Amino acid sequence: MESVIGKMKRIQLFEFEDFGWFPSWLRVCMTNLIVILQKMVGVPELLATMIADVLKKKSLTNIVDLGSGSGGVMPEVMDALHKIKGLEQVTLTMTDIFPSAEMLKKFNTETLDKISYNETSIDATNIATAPEGLKTMVNCFHHMPPKKARAILESAQRTNQSLLIYEMGDNNIPLLIWWLLLPLSLVILIIMVLFMTPFVKPLTWRQIVFTYLIPIIPICYAWDGQASLPRMYTLKDLDQLLQGLGSENYTWEKGHAKKKNGKKQGTYLLGLPI
Ligand SMILES: C[S@@+](CC[C@H](N)C(=O)[O-])C[C@H]1O[C@@H](n2cnc3c(N)ncnc32)[C@H](O)[C@@H]1O
Repeated sequence: MESVIGKMKRIQLFEFEDFGWFPSWLRVCMTNLIVILQKMVGVPELLATMIADVLKKKSLTNIVDLGSGSGGVMPEVMDALHKIKGLEQVTLTMTDIFPSAEMLKKFNTETLDKISYNETSIDATNIATAPEGLKTMVNCFHHMPPKKARAILESAQRTNQSLLIYEMGDNNIPLLIWWLLLPLSLVILIIMVLFMTPFVKPLTWRQIVFTYLIPIIPICYAWDGQASLPRMYTLKDLDQLLQGLGSENYTWEKGHAKKKNGKKQGTYLLGLPI
Protein backbone atom coordinates (compact mmCIF):
# COMPACT_ATOMS: atom_id res chain seq x y z
CA MET A 1 0.00 0.00 0.00
CA GLU A 2 2.88 2.43 0.61
CA SER A 3 3.51 3.12 -3.10
CA VAL A 4 -0.25 3.53 -3.58
CA ILE A 5 -0.45 6.16 -0.81
CA GLY A 6 2.42 8.15 -2.35
CA LYS A 7 0.67 8.58 -5.69
CA MET A 8 -2.54 10.13 -4.43
CA LYS A 9 -3.74 13.71 -4.82
CA ARG A 10 -5.63 13.31 -1.53
CA ILE A 11 -3.83 14.56 1.58
CA GLN A 12 -4.41 13.62 5.21
CA LEU A 13 -5.45 16.80 7.04
CA PHE A 14 -7.21 16.68 10.40
CA GLU A 15 -10.90 17.46 10.96
CA PHE A 16 -12.19 18.39 14.42
CA GLU A 17 -15.11 16.00 14.19
CA ASP A 18 -12.77 13.01 13.84
CA PHE A 19 -11.31 13.46 17.32
CA GLY A 20 -12.75 11.18 20.00
CA TRP A 21 -12.46 14.02 22.55
CA PHE A 22 -14.51 16.40 20.38
CA PRO A 23 -17.82 17.01 22.21
CA SER A 24 -20.64 14.95 20.73
CA TRP A 25 -23.14 17.85 20.87
CA LEU A 26 -20.72 20.03 18.88
CA ARG A 27 -20.30 17.29 16.26
CA VAL A 28 -24.09 17.10 16.00
CA CYS A 29 -24.36 20.89 15.54
CA MET A 30 -21.81 20.71 12.72
CA THR A 31 -23.38 17.74 10.93
CA ASN A 32 -26.77 19.54 11.20
CA LEU A 33 -25.25 22.23 8.99
CA ILE A 34 -23.95 19.70 6.44
CA VAL A 35 -27.56 18.55 6.05
CA ILE A 36 -28.68 22.09 5.13
CA LEU A 37 -25.86 22.41 2.60
CA GLN A 38 -26.73 19.08 0.98
CA LYS A 39 -30.39 20.04 0.63
CA MET A 40 -29.34 23.34 -0.95
CA VAL A 41 -27.43 21.57 -3.74
CA GLY A 42 -29.99 18.83 -4.41
CA VAL A 43 -28.19 15.82 -2.91
CA PRO A 44 -31.38 14.05 -1.62
CA GLU A 45 -32.91 13.61 -5.13
CA LEU A 46 -29.60 12.56 -6.64
CA LEU A 47 -28.90 9.99 -3.91
CA ALA A 48 -32.45 8.64 -3.96
CA THR A 49 -32.10 7.92 -7.70
CA MET A 50 -28.77 6.11 -7.26
CA ILE A 51 -29.95 4.13 -4.22
CA ALA A 52 -33.27 3.16 -5.86
CA ASP A 53 -31.37 1.69 -8.82
CA VAL A 54 -29.22 -0.50 -6.58
CA LEU A 55 -32.10 -1.62 -4.34
CA LYS A 56 -34.11 -2.70 -7.37
CA LYS A 57 -31.18 -4.34 -9.13
CA LYS A 58 -30.16 -6.33 -6.05
CA SER A 59 -33.69 -6.84 -4.63
CA LEU A 60 -32.63 -5.29 -1.30
CA THR A 61 -35.09 -3.90 1.23
CA ASN A 62 -32.81 -2.41 3.90
CA ILE A 63 -30.22 0.37 3.74
CA VAL A 64 -27.42 0.49 6.31
CA ASP A 65 -25.89 3.94 6.34
CA LEU A 66 -22.35 4.08 7.77
CA GLY A 67 -20.97 7.30 9.31
CA SER A 68 -24.49 8.73 9.56
CA GLY A 69 -23.68 11.60 11.93
CA SER A 70 -26.90 13.59 12.32
CA GLY A 71 -28.53 11.41 9.67
CA GLY A 72 -27.46 13.63 6.82
CA VAL A 73 -30.05 13.67 4.05
CA MET A 74 -30.95 10.01 4.49
CA PRO A 75 -34.39 10.76 6.02
CA GLU A 76 -35.21 12.89 2.93
CA VAL A 77 -33.83 10.11 0.70
CA MET A 78 -36.18 7.67 2.47
CA ASP A 79 -39.18 9.94 1.79
CA ALA A 80 -38.26 9.95 -1.90
CA LEU A 81 -37.70 6.16 -1.99
CA HIS A 82 -41.06 5.42 -0.35
CA LYS A 83 -42.78 7.23 -3.22
CA ILE A 84 -41.24 4.83 -5.77
CA LYS A 85 -43.32 1.79 -6.71
CA GLY A 86 -41.89 -1.35 -5.12
CA LEU A 87 -39.76 0.55 -2.60
CA GLU A 88 -42.55 1.63 -0.22
CA GLN A 89 -41.36 -0.74 2.52
CA VAL A 90 -37.61 -0.01 2.38
CA THR A 91 -36.05 0.48 5.82
CA LEU A 92 -33.00 2.45 6.92
CA THR A 93 -30.56 1.66 9.74
CA MET A 94 -28.23 4.54 10.51
CA THR A 95 -24.88 3.86 12.20
CA ASP A 96 -21.82 5.79 13.30
CA ILE A 97 -18.54 5.16 15.05
CA PHE A 98 -19.68 7.82 17.57
CA PRO A 99 -23.47 7.38 17.83
CA SER A 100 -24.81 10.35 19.80
CA ALA A 101 -27.48 10.04 22.49
CA GLU A 102 -29.29 12.97 20.86
CA MET A 103 -29.58 11.16 17.50
CA LEU A 104 -30.65 7.89 19.13
CA LYS A 105 -33.46 9.78 20.86
CA LYS A 106 -34.41 11.61 17.66
CA PHE A 107 -34.58 8.61 15.32
CA ASN A 108 -35.53 5.66 17.54
CA THR A 109 -39.15 6.68 17.94
CA GLU A 110 -42.30 4.76 17.09
CA THR A 111 -43.42 7.37 14.58
CA LEU A 112 -40.39 6.66 12.38
CA ASP A 113 -41.09 2.95 11.99
CA LYS A 114 -38.91 2.49 8.92
CA ILE A 115 -35.89 4.42 10.26
CA SER A 116 -33.68 3.50 13.20
CA TYR A 117 -30.28 4.49 14.60
CA ASN A 118 -27.97 1.72 15.79
CA GLU A 119 -27.08 2.19 19.46
CA THR A 120 -23.69 0.51 19.29
CA SER A 121 -20.64 1.98 17.62
CA ILE A 122 -20.14 0.61 14.09
CA ASP A 123 -16.76 1.15 12.52
CA ALA A 124 -17.13 1.41 8.74
CA THR A 125 -13.79 -0.33 8.26
CA ASN A 126 -15.41 -3.53 9.48
CA ILE A 127 -18.46 -3.84 7.24
CA ALA A 128 -19.06 -7.44 8.32
CA THR A 129 -20.19 -6.23 11.78
CA ALA A 130 -22.91 -3.97 10.32
CA PRO A 131 -26.49 -5.18 9.86
CA GLU A 132 -27.56 -6.71 6.52
CA GLY A 133 -28.54 -4.46 3.61
CA LEU A 134 -27.17 -2.02 1.06
CA LYS A 135 -24.27 -0.19 2.73
CA THR A 136 -24.10 3.53 2.03
CA MET A 137 -21.39 5.99 3.01
CA VAL A 138 -22.39 9.60 2.43
CA ASN A 139 -19.75 12.28 2.85
CA CYS A 140 -17.66 10.17 5.18
CA PHE A 141 -15.31 8.14 2.97
CA HIS A 142 -12.82 11.03 2.97
CA HIS A 143 -12.50 10.57 6.75
CA MET A 144 -10.78 7.25 6.06
CA PRO A 145 -7.03 7.33 5.43
CA PRO A 146 -5.96 5.14 2.47
CA LYS A 147 -5.30 1.96 4.45
CA LYS A 148 -8.68 2.17 6.16
CA ALA A 149 -10.39 3.14 2.90
CA ARG A 150 -8.87 0.12 1.19
CA ALA A 151 -9.91 -2.08 4.14
CA ILE A 152 -13.53 -0.96 3.66
CA LEU A 153 -13.48 -1.82 -0.05
CA GLU A 154 -11.82 -5.19 0.61
CA SER A 155 -14.31 -5.93 3.36
CA ALA A 156 -17.28 -5.15 1.08
CA GLN A 157 -15.95 -7.37 -1.70
CA ARG A 158 -14.91 -10.19 0.65
CA THR A 159 -18.30 -10.30 2.35
CA ASN A 160 -20.20 -9.82 -0.93
CA GLN A 161 -21.99 -6.65 0.22
CA SER A 162 -23.38 -3.92 -2.00
CA LEU A 163 -21.68 -0.63 -1.12
CA LEU A 164 -22.46 2.87 -2.40
CA ILE A 165 -19.99 5.59 -1.47
CA TYR A 166 -20.93 9.18 -2.23
CA GLU A 167 -19.08 12.46 -1.65
CA MET A 168 -20.90 15.69 -2.45
CA GLY A 169 -17.66 17.62 -3.04
CA ASP A 170 -14.87 17.13 -5.52
CA ASN A 171 -11.13 17.38 -4.88
CA ASN A 172 -10.56 19.14 -8.20
CA ILE A 173 -8.49 22.24 -7.47
CA PRO A 174 -4.68 22.23 -7.26
CA LEU A 175 -3.47 22.04 -3.67
CA LEU A 176 -1.45 25.27 -3.92
CA ILE A 177 -4.55 27.20 -4.97
CA TRP A 178 -6.46 25.59 -2.09
CA TRP A 179 -3.84 26.86 0.40
CA LEU A 180 -3.77 30.36 -1.17
CA LEU A 181 -7.57 30.63 -1.08
CA LEU A 182 -7.89 29.11 2.39
CA PRO A 183 -8.22 32.37 4.43
CA LEU A 184 -10.90 33.70 2.07
CA SER A 185 -12.71 30.33 1.91
CA LEU A 186 -12.79 30.09 5.71
CA VAL A 187 -14.33 33.55 6.01
CA ILE A 188 -16.95 32.71 3.36
CA LEU A 189 -17.90 29.48 5.13
CA ILE A 190 -18.13 31.22 8.51
CA ILE A 191 -20.50 33.80 7.02
CA MET A 192 -22.52 31.03 5.31
CA VAL A 193 -23.02 29.33 8.70
CA LEU A 194 -24.57 32.51 10.08
CA PHE A 195 -27.18 32.39 7.29
CA MET A 196 -27.72 28.59 7.29
CA THR A 197 -28.22 28.20 11.06
CA PRO A 198 -31.87 29.41 11.19
CA PHE A 199 -32.75 26.50 8.85
CA VAL A 200 -31.37 23.82 11.22
CA LYS A 201 -34.10 21.54 12.58
CA PRO A 202 -34.51 21.29 15.52
CA LEU A 203 -32.77 24.56 16.28
CA THR A 204 -31.36 24.14 19.79
CA TRP A 205 -30.08 26.81 22.20
CA ARG A 206 -26.58 25.35 21.83
CA GLN A 207 -26.67 25.74 18.05
CA ILE A 208 -27.68 29.41 18.49
CA VAL A 209 -25.36 30.35 21.37
CA PHE A 210 -22.27 28.67 19.93
CA THR A 211 -22.91 30.20 16.52
CA TYR A 212 -23.85 33.79 17.25
CA LEU A 213 -22.44 34.48 20.75
CA ILE A 214 -19.40 32.22 21.04
CA PRO A 215 -18.74 31.23 17.40
CA ILE A 216 -17.12 27.84 17.95
CA ILE A 217 -19.49 26.09 15.50
CA PRO A 218 -18.78 28.39 12.50
CA ILE A 219 -15.02 28.18 13.09
CA CYS A 220 -14.90 24.38 13.43
CA TYR A 221 -17.38 23.90 10.56
CA ALA A 222 -15.40 26.20 8.28
CA TRP A 223 -12.15 24.34 8.96
CA ASP A 224 -13.67 20.87 8.62
CA GLY A 225 -15.53 21.90 5.46
CA GLN A 226 -12.37 23.24 3.85
CA ALA A 227 -10.17 20.38 5.09
CA SER A 228 -12.66 17.88 3.61
CA LEU A 229 -11.89 18.96 0.04
CA PRO A 230 -8.23 17.93 -0.27
CA ARG A 231 -9.03 14.83 1.82
CA MET A 232 -11.44 13.55 -0.82
CA TYR A 233 -10.35 10.73 -3.08
CA THR A 234 -10.27 11.78 -6.72
CA LEU A 235 -11.39 9.27 -9.34
CA LYS A 236 -7.71 8.56 -10.04
CA ASP A 237 -7.06 8.05 -6.31
CA LEU A 238 -9.93 5.56 -6.28
CA ASP A 239 -8.17 3.66 -9.08
CA GLN A 240 -5.20 3.31 -6.72
CA LEU A 241 -7.43 2.10 -3.90
CA LEU A 242 -9.12 -0.39 -6.19
CA GLN A 243 -5.89 -1.93 -7.49
CA GLY A 244 -6.26 -5.70 -7.53
CA LEU A 245 -9.91 -5.55 -6.49
CA GLY A 246 -12.86 -6.56 -8.66
CA SER A 247 -13.41 -10.17 -9.64
CA GLU A 248 -15.73 -12.49 -11.55
CA ASN A 249 -18.11 -12.18 -8.61
CA TYR A 250 -17.79 -8.52 -7.71
CA THR A 251 -17.67 -5.31 -9.77
CA TRP A 252 -16.66 -1.73 -9.01
CA GLU A 253 -17.97 1.33 -10.84
CA LYS A 254 -17.09 4.95 -10.17
CA GLY A 255 -17.72 8.38 -11.67
CA HIS A 256 -19.18 11.83 -11.20
CA ALA A 257 -22.69 11.82 -9.82
CA LYS A 258 -25.11 13.85 -11.93
CA LYS A 259 -28.29 15.66 -11.05
CA LYS A 260 -31.43 15.44 -13.22
CA ASN A 261 -30.35 18.60 -15.06
CA GLY A 262 -27.09 16.86 -16.01
CA LYS A 263 -24.94 18.99 -13.66
CA LYS A 264 -22.14 17.16 -11.83
CA GLN A 265 -22.50 16.99 -8.06
CA GLY A 266 -19.73 15.03 -6.38
CA THR A 267 -18.36 11.55 -7.00
CA TYR A 268 -19.51 8.01 -6.31
CA LEU A 269 -18.03 4.55 -6.02
CA LEU A 270 -20.34 1.56 -6.27
CA GLY A 271 -19.35 -1.99 -5.36
CA LEU A 272 -21.79 -4.75 -6.33
CA PRO A 273 -21.77 -8.52 -6.04
CA ILE A 274 -22.65 -10.07 -9.39
C1 LIG B 1 -19.08 14.55 7.68
S1 LIG B 1 -19.98 13.47 8.73
C2 LIG B 1 -21.13 12.89 7.56
C3 LIG B 1 -22.41 12.63 8.17
C4 LIG B 1 -23.55 12.24 7.21
N1 LIG B 1 -23.27 11.01 6.51
C5 LIG B 1 -23.89 13.34 6.27
O1 LIG B 1 -23.91 13.15 5.06
O2 LIG B 1 -24.20 14.43 6.74
C6 LIG B 1 -18.88 12.12 8.90
C7 LIG B 1 -19.31 11.10 9.94
O3 LIG B 1 -18.45 9.97 9.82
C8 LIG B 1 -18.25 9.42 11.10
N2 LIG B 1 -17.07 8.55 11.06
C9 LIG B 1 -15.76 8.90 11.02
N3 LIG B 1 -14.98 7.82 10.99
C10 LIG B 1 -15.82 6.73 10.99
C11 LIG B 1 -15.63 5.32 10.96
N4 LIG B 1 -14.40 4.77 10.93
N5 LIG B 1 -16.71 4.52 10.96
C12 LIG B 1 -17.96 5.03 11.01
N6 LIG B 1 -18.20 6.36 11.05
C13 LIG B 1 -17.15 7.20 11.03
C14 LIG B 1 -18.15 10.65 12.00
O4 LIG B 1 -18.42 10.34 13.36
C15 LIG B 1 -19.20 11.59 11.38
O5 LIG B 1 -20.44 11.47 12.03
